[in-house]
Amino acid sequence: MTPVLTPTLEKQDTLSVPDLVAERDLTRRDLELIFQLAAQVKASPGSFAQALQGKQLALIFEKPSLRTRVTFEVGMTSMGGYAIYLDHTKPRLGERESIKDIARNLERWVHGIVARTFAHASVLELAEHASIPVINALTDLLHPCQGLADFFTLGEKFGRLRGLKLAFVGDGNNVCHSLLITGAKLGVSVNVATPPGFEPKAEIVEDAKSFARKSGAKVQLFNDAPAAVAGVQAVYTDVWASMGQEYATHLRAQVFPSFRITEELMAAADPGAVFMHCLPAHRGQEVTNAVIDSPQSVVFDQAENRLHVQKALLLLLLMQNGRV
Ligand code: CP
Ligand code: NVA
Repeated sequence: MTPVLTPTLEKQDTLSVPDLVAERDLTRRDLELIFQLAAQVKASPGSFAQALQGKQLALIFEKPSLRTRVTFEVGMTSMGGYAIYLDHTKPRLGERESIKDIARNLERWVHGIVARTFAHASVLELAEHASIPVINALTDLLHPCQGLADFFTLGEKFGRLRGLKLAFVGDGNNVCHSLLITGAKLGVSVNVATPPGFEPKAEIVEDAKSFARKSGAKVQLFNDAPAAVAGVQAVYTDVWASMGQEYATHLRAQVFPSFRITEELMAAADPGAVFMHCLPAHRGQEVTNAVIDSPQSVVFDQAENRLHVQKALLLLLLMQNGRV
């Protein structure tokens, strides 16, 4: 592929999709382009200081956020643009007016929409009706920005991606889904260990397996944490009850303890393995303090890279929309 050599993106340096709703839509070239530009943005942020001058982004959030909100706001501001936060915790999207009407209003004022919703269908509907780019900032199904930043981080740590193995241990949730699909596309094998009944969705696993067949990676499900972690280069976990599942916190705390990431479990991984977590973490629950604070932990590098990867996404998506 043609490398992106200057902050002025070349015409051919566009994504194959107008939105980032689901990583299954991204081609291998899209992934390379995002990572390449993210590396440039990270190495030379000043070169992009005016790249989105005068551009506005609407941030619609039905759920709380620290990392996603701050990185999108800082990302826009640091490239000369502006982000407007729309708190949709109450009422949720579609309750005050239709999602279609929200999309058709926002496209008249701003250049892009970032949305964090419960229903994945809400982000799909925004993308269907808005003529401007829509970025999925987490739904109950997927967290694409997180997965992209995580594999960018792994690429930095290991100098390669293809051939690496990652184990996701815990709940087969949105983050697990994004890691499965993105990993499989990138040639990273993904093992998932969950208690019985908490596996990732079957259709996501099938999708990931079909992408893995093409990239040479493997996707395997386990109900046993040590078996999944054996020999991997990255051990990943997330909360046992995601946003919207708080009602089940107590029950899950009884089901998941053998899936906690401890120093003993980390010892089953490759000696150079890293520990990963999307954050927020429930310290002492899905991971011990000793692991998350250990030299193996790259959780704050993941958090930092959310900024660089999302800046690359904004540049690519807003540019190809003809607005930049
Ligand atoms: N990892 C992540 O998306 O964090 P926030 O929920 O704080 O945005
Ligand atoms: N699985 C978690 C991820 C938070 C970034 C949740 O959805 O709450």
